Amino acid sequence: MKAVSIKAAIVDIFKPAVLSAGPLPLPTAAQTLEVRPDFRAQVFYGRIALPSRYLLSPLAGFTTLPFRRIVRRIGGVGLATTDLVNSRALLSRNERTMQMVETHPEDRPFAVQIFGSEPDVMADAAQMLQAHGVDTIDINMGCPVDRIAEAGSGAGMMCNVGGSVELVRRVVEAVSIPVSVKMRLGWDSTSLSSPLFARLFEEVGVAAIAIHGRTREQGFSGTVSLDGIRQTVEAVKRIPVIGNGDIRNVADAARMLRETGCHGISIGRAALANPWIFRQLSEWEQTGGYSPAGTFDERLQLMLMQFRCIEERHGTDRAIVLFRKMAHWYLKGMRVQKKFRGDFQKIRTPEEMAEALEKIKSSGPVDGNRTGVLTDCHIPVPSGPVDKW
Ligand SMILES: Cc1cc2nc3c(=O)[nH]c(=O)nc-3n(C[C@H](O)[C@H](O)[C@H](O)COP(=O)(O)O)c2cc1C
Repeated sequence: MKAVSIKAAIVDIFKPAVLSAGPLPLPTAAQTLEVRPDFRAQVFYGRIALPSRYLLSPLAGFTTLPFRRIVRRIGGVGLATTDLVNSRALLSRNERTMQMVETHPEDRPFAVQIFGSEPDVMADAAQMLQAHGVDTIDINMGCPVDRIAEAGSGAGMMCNVGGSVELVRRVVEAVSIPVSVKMRLGWDSTSLSSPLFARLFEEVGVAAIAIHGRTREQGFSGTVSLDGIRQTVEAVKRIPVIGNGDIRNVADAARMLRETGCHGISIGRAALANPWIFRQLSEWEQTGGYSPAGTFDERLQLMLMQFRCIEERHGTDRAIVLFRKMAHWYLKGMRVQKKFRGDFQKIRTPEEMAEALEKIKSSGPVDGNRTGVLTDCHIPVPSGPVDKW
């Protein structure tokens, strides 16, 4: 089939879509106020002052540069982290791995998350990233994937206190940029080791801890333990602790901040369904109120903007394939009929994409509300090797 520029094929559908860079216009109508916590001082990672306390949590396969650029354009993000990156693959300058650490002036400050079990390799990878211009390095201590955890990296690090503290110390000493660690509460309910790790990591110079309030054993079942996060916050003296898990809206964030005393919050899955969440949280902190998340039409524009960012980097054909996965979340957040969401997953060409988008645009959301507030949607954990993330 003749290659057609996606721009030529679909731009008409979206007139007058906002496709330029820069912050999106703010929607009107502030929402109800939530009970405000005593906000802690501005969050610093070492010497880096984060523009907000609301961070984008790494989501392998989703928190790619195009998505990070989109949430930054909306605003309110304090720090965004790449998907986890294999430290060995970094040192061999594997092409796909190097793509994962690409950034853009819009994407600052940004962290690269690395995993591995060999202190030398992790320290060398950290030095390489520092030379590459990365702002901060995050060590993954939560990846549950068996192949990774059984090799002693990711969540496997929670089973080896001495070895893990030594590895983290080596990374911290290898670089002058801040190093953080992201972990869970512990391996299982009999080993809730995050307060111990947090204290030991602070002693060896870690700049911040991010903590998902579940154990590795729990996967995504049950609820996040705010008590477990609070114990980790209380275990450290100076460094910020970022609470994570199940934050879908301002009310959830208010509760996490109030009940744990954490310095900041990181948000993963909810950012896929509502990329406005960081701006809503920042507005709420600054003014006590916050604007609604994007409407159906605004989400369509955003979706297209992200497609453009992917297309810029990978060309149209590859962009279509890469974009389908992300589009699933946008379309879910937009309450698009299941059939149209399914059809979008089958598109292969610019013409098919244009046709699918035309149908989505003309049919609107299932409740017919194009301009109103879309309710929070349930965000399942994608199945497969990451289902315990
Ligand atoms: C699909 C998927 C991929 C993830 N990838 C990573 C990752 O690369 N590194 C990491 O530290 N955590 C990863 N996580 C965990 C999230 O960062 C976060 O800790 C978890 O989803 C809980 O936060 P949430 O409820 O806001 O999503 C992943 C989670 C999911 C669902």
